[in-house]
Amino acid sequence: MPRDATLLWALRSPCAFACPHCYFGTIEEHKQAPPAEVGVLSHLSRDDLPPTVLKEFARSLAGSVIERVVIAGGEPLDWPPTLEVIELAKAAGCEVVIATNGIALTRPPVLDRLLELGVDGVSVSLDSADAQTNDQLRPSRSGRFGYADVLAGIRALLKVRGERHTPRVGIYTVVVRERPQEITDMARLGEELGVDYYVPQPISLTPDHQLFEKLTHRPADVAAVAERLERLYGEPSRLALPDPSYARRFVAAISTQDSGRVGGCFGGARLFFVQPDGQVWDCPSDRRIAATAPERRRTIRDADARNLFAERPACTDCSLFSRDCVNMWPLMDIPLLLKPGDVR
Ligand SMILES: C[S@@+](CC[C@H](N)C(=O)[O-])C[C@H]1O[C@@H](n2cnc3c(N)ncnc32)[C@H](O)[C@@H]1O
Repeated sequence: MPRDATLLWALRSPCAFACPHCYFGTIEEHKQAPPAEVGVLSHLSRDDLPPTVLKEFARSLAGSVIERVVIAGGEPLDWPPTLEVIELAKAAGCEVVIATNGIALTRPPVLDRLLELGVDGVSVSLDSADAQTNDQLRPSRSGRFGYADVLAGIRALLKVRGERHTPRVGIYTVVVRERPQEITDMARLGEELGVDYYVPQPISLTPDHQLFEKLTHRPADVAAVAERLERLYGEPSRLALPDPSYARRFVAAISTQDSGRVGGCFGGARLFFVQPDGQVWDCPSDRRIAATAPERRRTIRDADARNLFAERPACTDCSLFSRDCVNMWPLMDIPLLLKPGDVR
C-alpha cells in the first residue's frame, strides 16, 4: 500500500483563545446548548479521548498509509501528552506538522522538545499584521495573550532552530471580507520575521453563523482578494506558498455561493480527519461529515491505523463542495510548504 495519506488530527478541544469564528464554536454558546449533532466540534472537552487511547492509536500509524500527521485542535501544545503523541507518530515514521496558536512557543521547554522530537513543521495562526486587529479577530480567553506573544513565540522558535532546516515555520491567516490587504501584509510580516511558509485561507462559516454577514466574502469582495493573491504570487519572495492553483481555488470558492462538484477529490483517499472524541471522517468539511453514512462512521478508539485506512477509493468525485473545501488543498501541498527553498 502506498504511504501517501495525510491525517488532520484535532487532538484536543480546549484552547486559550476564543476566536468567535472558530470551527470549534465558542464555549459560551456551547455552555448554554452543548452541540448534539454528529461531527460538530466544541472547545468543551467532555468527550476528548484520554492519552492512553491517543498514544495507542499513534503507535499503530507505523506501517499504515498515513505519511503525514497534522496535529491541531483546539490547542495541541498546551497539553503535555501531545508531545508524547508526537514522539510516537515520529517513531511510526510519519512527518509531523503542528498547528498552534503560538503561545506555547514562548516556553523554552516546549521549544526544546519540539526540536528534539524532530517535528517537521510548525504552523502558527495570526490573522492580521496589525496587532489590534489581530487581537480583535483572535482574542485570548483571559485577555492576557495576543499578537505580541505570538510574534515572540515565532521569533523564539526561529532562534532555537538556528541554522537547522527543521522545523519549517509558517504562518496561517484567515482572510475575512473586510481585510483583503492581510493577504500581502501578512506575507511581508512573515518575511520580516524570517518564517518559511505562508498560507492565507478564506474564512468559512455556515450561513446561520452570527458572523456570516460581517466576515464572509460576497461577490463584490472578489476583485480585491484576487488582486492581492496575484500580488502575493507575482512578487519575488522567500516564502513558500501552496501551489499556484490554490489562488484560483481561493477566488473560485469565494465567488460562488456554496455549491459545486470536486472531481477526483482526495478526501477519504489521501486525506482523513480525526476529531478529539476519536471520530474519523473522510474529510473535515462540514457537508461531507453530515453526509457520512451511518455504516461509514468510525472511531480511533481501539482501532489500528493499518486497518482503519486500508480500504480507500483512489479518489472520489464529490458533489459536496463548500467554501470549507478550499482550506483542504494546503494540507495536500504540505510537501511544497516544507521544502527548503530560496527566492521563488
Ligand atoms: C482550529 S485552529 C486549531 C489549531 C490552533 N489552536 C491554532 O490556533 O492554529 C486551526 C486553524 O483553523 C483556522 N480556523 C478556525 N476557524 C476557521 C474558520 N471558520 N474558517 C477558516 N479557518 C478557520 C484557525 O485560524 C487556525 O489557523
